[in-house]
Amino acid sequence: MNRRASRIDIYNILETVSSSEQVQLQLKSWRAESMRIGFVPTMGALHEGHISLLRKAQEQCQKVIVSIFVNPTQFNDAKDLSNYPRTLERDSRLLEANGLDLLFVPSAKEMYPNGLQKETYEFGSLTVGMEAANRPGHFDGVATVVSHLFDACSPDVAFFGEKDFQQLQIIRALVSLQNRPIEIVGCPIMREESGLAMSSRNQLLSPEARQNAAVIYKSLKELREQAHKVEPKKLKEDFKEKLKGIPNAELEYIKICDERGLLEVNELNSNEQLRAFAVVRFEGVRLLDNLSLFP
Ligand code: PAF
Repeated sequence: MNRRASRIDIYNILETVSSSEQVQLQLKSWRAESMRIGFVPTMGALHEGHISLLRKAQEQCQKVIVSIFVNPTQFNDAKDLSNYPRTLERDSRLLEANGLDLLFVPSAKEMYPNGLQKETYEFGSLTVGMEAANRPGHFDGVATVVSHLFDACSPDVAFFGEKDFQQLQIIRALVSLQNRPIEIVGCPIMREESGLAMSSRNQLLSPEARQNAAVIYKSLKELREQAHKVEPKKLKEDFKEKLKGIPNAELEYIKICDERGLLEVNELNSNEQLRAFAVVRFEGVRLLDNLSLFP
């Protein structure tokens, strides 16, 4: 082993804390210097998509906190929770290499001192369709944990990926519901070379399925090319057709919705910001993607 590299590994350890008190202590000294604090909540198994959120946070803030917590209350399938990749050591090296200031890795007890309870929230049309309909209770779990994480980290700005676009809109609604002085920044989807949206779940795919899954983005782009001349019903049918011949691909949904309310539209209106949303399972792994139709 390279001796110099191992010295760096030993002496350059990323500042990692596991309790809210420790985060608050650190925040106190940063706040004393009027620093702007950015926050990137994650469930770990980090990839370039997460690192792009970190970079955006570093551009806009003096100090950045990343959290890693695989939140049990947002999983409605125990198998999905136990299969979720956990790669803390690798994640922490990656964050360190990218200049992170503070890593927060709370335990379930720290996040949920009174047991794994989730709050129930009212987000109107945002929680009617798509992931809300397919994963009942999922967004209550997300909103609960993000609320606890915001309490612990009290950032000025928090960064979320547009891959989970419905989540992003719900977090915006949560912050407004709770009157939190936190700016929410949505960041563009990062893609693998094939076009597949980056996700921690991609590593659960066989190399063949990972390649085949590129059909999702390709078909979304083709849908966008037709979007100004073809009705949504036909656009969705064409999308379904394109997936039919692909081995192991099971379409869960394809929807065209307005970006603000996330309600499905039946007619295309170029005055509205519309977005196509797809979920496709490959080898049982749920892959999400979306694309703005009139950028
Ligand atoms: O997007 C995620 O990784 C999670 O839903 C989040 C926001 C970290 C909450 O657990």
